[in-house]
Amino acid sequence: MADGSNSQNHTPNFTHFQGFWCRPEFVSNIISFQNHFQALDDDIVLASKPKAGTTWLKSLAFTILNRHCFPLSDSPLKTTNPHDLVPYFEMTHYSNGRLPDFAGISSPRLFATHLPYHALPESIKQSNARIVYIARNPLDIMVSMWHFQRSKPERADWPLDECFQQFCRGEEEFGGFWDHVPGYRTQSMENPKKVLFLKYKEMKGNPVVEIKKMAEFMGCPFSVEEEKEGAIEEIAEFCSLSSLKNLEVNKSGTLKAVSWNRPTKSFFRKGEAGDYVNHPSPSAVERYSKLVEEKLSGSGLTF
Ligand code: A3P
Repeated sequence: MADGSNSQNHTPNFTHFQGFWCRPEFVSNIISFQNHFQALDDDIVLASKPKAGTTWLKSLAFTILNRHCFPLSDSPLKTTNPHDLVPYFEMTHYSNGRLPDFAGISSPRLFATHLPYHALPESIKQSNARIVYIARNPLDIMVSMWHFQRSKPERADWPLDECFQQFCRGEEEFGGFWDHVPGYRTQSMENPKKVLFLKYKEMKGNPVVEIKKMAEFMGCPFSVEEEKEGAIEEIAEFCSLSSLKNLEVNKSGTLKAVSWNRPTKSFFRKGEAGDYVNHPSPSAVERYSKLVEEKLSGSGLTF
């Protein structure tokens, strides 16, 4: 179906491509991105599974990187949704058969992707381009995705259990989670200068520490003066869920950068770590948690 849903059970349809699942309409965009993108050594690529906190990561990275050009009072984030400021390669830049011209973008360039590490263009892997990855508890991702999909009328009655089964099988946006997260984590352990591996829960717990880490990794560390003046705390507050969610641009309107019409508000919900426990019945939470534990056993990953 054109909207990527299955008419019988309202479950989104995905195709298995290059070892991961994605919407069929993105396959040609991905191939074009892989074949044509030329990374520069100072590029920064934000990578994530959908619903891992990408919108937050984009806001933070944009603000950190551009803090000397835009004071917070004049930030483009006040009038533009983070996805329109930092579009995805595979959903925007290389969509509709376009070959983007990045000549006008000043360095360091900031990009975003949901592709798993193994599917990134060689030019990103071989250059000194840096990747900032955000990981999140799989059940929080699953519940967040369920809410996101259910806001569409045709998926309003999508059962959570069906969503969970599909998630476990890996049949979800740029899934499975079980390959995506370890893929980036392994790279971050083997080459910490190449990939910074962040966790949503740790960012919620101590945003100042994580923002500082991001700035250092991205090559634009905060000066002692900035730290003394509370610049990191101000960025943390400016990019917090409540602050971004209350901006007019994120309360009404639709995204411009991606090829489907999504209300900007659909990217801001509760923004909590561990919220999954409030959704299915307690017995289902137990069953889900057990399955996730089994799936992650031996990976060394905790959320
Ligand atoms: P919930 O649905 O659990 O609330 P993505 O940006 O990858 O699509 O992820 C969306 C999730 O990140 C949603 O989670 C959303 O509420 C949360 N989110 C969006 N902006 C955020 C922010 N500034 N701080 C923390 N979480 C945020």
